[in-house]
Amino acid sequence: MSATIKASQGAPYSRIYGVGGERGNRVVSNAEMCTIIDSSDEWIQQRTGIVERRWATEDQTPLSMSLVAGRKAIERSGVDPSQIDGVLVATGSHTQQFPSLAVSVAAGLGLKDPAATDLSSACAGFCYGLSLADSMVRTGSAKYVLVVGVEILSRQTDFTDRGTAFLFGDGAGAVVVGPSESPGIGPVVWGSDGDAADVIWTDEWNAALEAGKKPVIHMEGNKVFRWATTFIAEKTAEALEAAGLAPEELDVFIPHQANNRITDSMLRRMHLPESVVISRDIRQMGNSSAASIPIAMEALLESGEAKSGDTALVIGFGAGLVYAGQVVLLP
Ligand SMILES: CC(C)(COP(=O)(O)OP(=O)(O)OC[C@H]1O[C@@H](n2cnc3c(N)ncnc32)[C@H](O)[C@@H]1OP(=O)(O)O)[C@@H](O)C(=O)NCCC(=O)NCCS
Repeated sequence: MSATIKASQGAPYSRIYGVGGERGNRVVSNAEMCTIIDSSDEWIQQRTGIVERRWATEDQTPLSMSLVAGRKAIERSGVDPSQIDGVLVATGSHTQQFPSLAVSVAAGLGLKDPAATDLSSACAGFCYGLSLADSMVRTGSAKYVLVVGVEILSRQTDFTDRGTAFLFGDGAGAVVVGPSESPGIGPVVWGSDGDAADVIWTDEWNAALEAGKKPVIHMEGNKVFRWATTFIAEKTAEALEAAGLAPEELDVFIPHQANNRITDSMLRRMHLPESVVISRDIRQMGNSSAASIPIAMEALLESGEAKSGDTALVIGFGAGLVYAGQVVLLP
């Protein structure tokens, strides 16, 4: 007998309702960094654009920072927390395999019985989450989804490696995604290349701990740089095209804050007009991986450089290698 099963159906489109961020409390200047590694303020600024980075203080954890960012995003969204039935947390900094960080974020925010899970997509995690949230809302598997990106990379940094130690920052950013009558999140352009899994990676945790070592991040910076300035620059342009926008119709560009020189090469590829607001949040934040895009989004809205309703192109890329990008309307 062949029975027909019912399929869920959701809203015609989705959009971002609110954004919130939280940065590590401690400001670490390049001068202070250069007391730890053999480098200079001039070299770091010239190669990356970083002036200072934010590190979590001892009292800050991935959970505490997610709760601050999540609370802000929910308050600003105007959505009643009882309506939030999905929580996605993108992170590489949660130090337990299970339970997920997402279930603790949901409980800490007082959300009742939402679907909740973590995403392991490194610096692309927030944009992966955004796309999944969009699908959840449009297929009806959730009505409102909280998407969080959170990292405490300073606790996974190898301070004996001057090729990576100056890059990383700590923070959390969150958005609420929900139903919309018109498109507020464009098609995602995403993918992965597991053959390049050895370009950015963390130590295998058990092996490191058994050897009495802290698991840390390793990276072949040059290879990442080349990939980001060629392949990812192309994909960034594709994400804009997928949304049906000409460069002149874009208001804001918020790439993953990995390196200002990577951002510059994307701009050269896309021929964006001067009027487009470009996020350079890395200057004050360092690279906060999954958290960088929502934190940068909040900063542009708070400073008034960007405004609600603006079209913004976001793209995350990193360890995997993985990437995901889409155009969104700012909340
Ligand atoms: C990390 C990064 C800034 C290094 O810049 P780079 O121009 O590629 O530098 P290289 O690794 O080629 O090193 C160039 C020289 O600077 C030196 N150097 C490396 N780190 C240094 C530091 N902190 N201070 C001073 N000199 C440094 C190297 O030893 C090398 O010297 P040599 O030529 O005498 O051997 C750059 O590769 C990068 O940003 N990559 C992408 C990283 C990234 O975005 N990762 C996350 C993706 S999500």
